[in-house]
Amino acid sequence: MGRLDGAVAIVTGGASGIGRAIALLLAAEGARVAIVDRQEPQGAEVLATIRQAGGTAQFLQADLGAAASAQMIVAGTLRAFGQVDIVVNNAAVSSPDGILEVDEAQWDATLAVDLKAPFFLTQAALPSMLERRHGVFVNIASVNGLLGLGNDVYSAAKAGLINLTKSVATRHGPDGVRANVICPGTVRTPIWQATVERTPDVFDRLAQWYPLGRVGEPQDIAQAALFLASEESAWITGAVLPVDGGLTAGIHRMATELQGD
Ligand SMILES: NC(=O)c1ccc[n+]([C@@H]2O[C@H](COP(=O)([O-])OP(=O)(O)OC[C@H]3O[C@@H](n4cnc5c(N)ncnc54)[C@H](O)[C@@H]3O)[C@@H](O)[C@H]2O)c1
Repeated sequence: MGRLDGAVAIVTGGASGIGRAIALLLAAEGARVAIVDRQEPQGAEVLATIRQAGGTAQFLQADLGAAASAQMIVAGTLRAFGQVDIVVNNAAVSSPDGILEVDEAQWDATLAVDLKAPFFLTQAALPSMLERRHGVFVNIASVNGLLGLGNDVYSAAKAGLINLTKSVATRHGPDGVRANVICPGTVRTPIWQATVERTPDVFDRLAQWYPLGRVGEPQDIAQAALFLASEESAWITGAVLPVDGGLTAGIHRMATELQGD
């Protein structure tokens, strides 16, 4: 018996990193999974991995930057699997530029994937959920949505995603729909590729900031997503869950400074 037997999940950005780990885990727990991504070969690899393990999945190639993709993704999932129970809004893009460097095109391109896409996928998925009085959103924001940590446009979008989650939770809780948001800290995924090329020991350096002494792995986030997607979290909605090795729990360095040791 899987924890998600009978459920259908859409996972955006499911071809890589955290989304890939979520798609594999939800499928392993019995969900039928629609993997949405713009990267075709990587999406096909995740699909093949799920099928080899005896799971059920489809790959839908789409550019989430276009709002019209949302309807296409939900229609494709309904065609393949007949229902939508779980939507994991995971895909995102990021750029390291600060406020003074960002131009309008960068703002638009980042917001399109990181905030507009989750908004319109939520809008597209809701009608069939409302009809069945059952639905779960698991949104993947970031610690950047909670604190000033650089990547200014990305961070603004992630803060917006946190509030979108709360709107869905409060507005549609009475309809049987739940929405929660995970805020990961640094996770070892391909999104860091350019940084790793510039600074090969970046994860070791960042690990020092984490109370638990390491950066995250995709599986750390996938386990939290599984919990929030499953009925084990049936009375949790509108929650903001940092999965961040303790990064946002406080600044211990400051405390030791105050104690003078
Ligand atoms: N890795 C981290 O350190 C970290 C930290 C905090 C939050 N997050 C969040 O976790 C989520 C997953 O990130 P990741 O690290 O796995 O990144 P990743 O780059 O490995 O994967 C992101 C996936 O999204 C897809 N994608 C991006 N734009 C798309 C578009 N327009 N249309 C369709 N697909 C698109 C990419 O093709 C890719 O497969 C993101 O929301 C990210 O902001 C990651």
